[in-house]
Amino acid sequence: MALRLGDVVPNFTQDSSEGSIDFYSWAGDSWVVLFSHPADFTPVCTTELGTVAKLKPEFDKRNVKVLALSVDTADHHRDWIGDINETQSTNVNYPILADPDRSVSDLYDMIHPNANNTLTVRSVFIVDPNKKLRLTFTYPASTGRNFEEILRVIDSLQLTDSYGVATPADWKDGGDVVVVPSISTEDAQQRFPKGVTVVKPYLRTTPQPNK
Ligand code: BEZ
Repeated sequence: MALRLGDVVPNFTQDSSEGSIDFYSWAGDSWVVLFSHPADFTPVCTTELGTVAKLKPEFDKRNVKVLALSVDTADHHRDWIGDINETQSTNVNYPILADPDRSVSDLYDMIHPNANNTLTVRSVFIVDPNKKLRLTFTYPASTGRNFEEILRVIDSLQLTDSYGVATPADWKDGGDVVVVPSISTEDAQQRFPKGVTVVKPYLRTTPQPNK
């Protein structure tokens, strides 16, 4: 069955471009972005993996490890990394899981047979330090993902885990947030000393509490 938000994600041990990875030990106390792509030596994937390498400092700042996956071998990945570094002017600085036996792809339901029988689609899993699944989405092979959006979601998850707030449409770090419905306006005024704006009784905003 497909993984659902809040599920504890399954552990696995699999080879990668940087050697064998036991997922739980490798993740440790970090957040993880696990993302699959259809195949090595393909154009969209090359740009995606280069983009993630350039954004690695942003993931590091947020205590997030990144882990790519496709059904190619570790040797194949290592050859391709040379091309990614050359063409994207970067240095791939995170592992790519090698899943030729599809064990991880099947475990995480990354092969969607009506899209392609053998290759992984563009799945993303954000996993928190308790190994719980906090976000998943799936893009088709023809559409490269927006990794700034993945960072934005991580900012939202980390903020909303710590404060009684949620983030509105198109929120970015530093923007106003909304007070969750379970907090009364009276309590919100105590909790958020920067002020609470009551637009409607159910729609209340406050400046981002940790800024
Ligand atoms: C790509 O990464 O460019 C790609 C991979 C599979 C199908 C279509 C595009």
